[in-house]
Amino acid sequence: RVKKQTVFSELFTSDPVTLTTASHRSCDKSQESRRLIQAAFRKNDLLRNLAEGEIRAITACMYRTSVSQGCVVIQEGATGDQAFVLEEGRLDVTKDEQKLLTLEPEDVFGELALLYNCTHTCSVSAQTDSSLWVIDRKIYQTVLTQCRLNHLSYSVELLRGLPFLQSFSEDAIVRMSDHMKETNYTDGDFIIHQGATGDTFYIISKGKVTMTERKLGHQEETVLTELSERQWFGEKALWGEDTQTVSVRAAGEVTCLVIDRETFKNVMDESVSDSHQEVQKISESTFELTEDAHLVSST
Ligand code: CMP
Repeated sequence: RVKKQTVFSELFTSDPVTLTTASHRSCDKSQESRRLIQAAFRKNDLLRNLAEGEIRAITACMYRTSVSQGCVVIQEGATGDQAFVLEEGRLDVTKDEQKLLTLEPEDVFGELALLYNCTHTCSVSAQTDSSLWVIDRKIYQTVLTQCRLNHLSYSVELLRGLPFLQSFSEDAIVRMSDHMKETNYTDGDFIIHQGATGDTFYIISKGKVTMTERKLGHQEETVLTELSERQWFGEKALWGEDTQTVSVRAAGEVTCLVIDRETFKNVMDESVSDSHQEVQKISESTFELTEDAHLVSST
């Protein structure tokens, strides 16, 4: 007699997975489990580019499940409604019944169908009893959208505070904030090295940095200032100055929003060209109105 295989998706009810049903599942996790999930994301080629905050937010929404040996967690060709991180146990990845590899703790799987909106490319089944963390597609998408909106509105707020951008239009600020990338540093990391070439502008969104200068012919560095959240450095690089005149180092954990000169220039050029077109449109319609007025007055 052929033993019926358990299929992971059948372990849950047939209701579509919604934020409400998912919120009933426990997302509680130890610090060790959070660390493992985040390490798994950073190891994965497709997920490692998510921002730290996005990985943390997704991690917070993942819920635990366990599967017994033999359970088919993912069926090749099925729609991808979940992605997983393996915490304990071993899983086999197979395609056309040929084994491709064994997944180990700290591996992500099921992400291809989730990210590319396609069906699962392989089957994944439990070689041993295993413990998994699961993220549902809808929650993944909702969390990312929310994080990106928050990020955008926070970076718009930070950019609006910069005195040298006061004359730029709201549209240019929003475009620029859309191109700002988040970068993270740990204590002591050099963000800018005096004497090196640089083309990047930084705004501190979290943490503190120390700015130092080494005078010509001196060995020791002088601390010029400490900068914190909402303050900025490197703005000269945007206007074309290449050589860094100071060093900037992270004092603790730091997150900066950054933009390079080339991207900044492109964004500004687009905005200028849009506003020229706007001016052109306004003057054309003013001309048409004036023409119409002439026609009306001459009839
Ligand atoms: P997905 O296609 O959604 O579902 C099956 C998963 O197996 C796939 O995502 C990957 O996570 C994993 N997988 C597929 N092919 C490979 C491979 N060649 N090497 C490693 N993992 C794979």
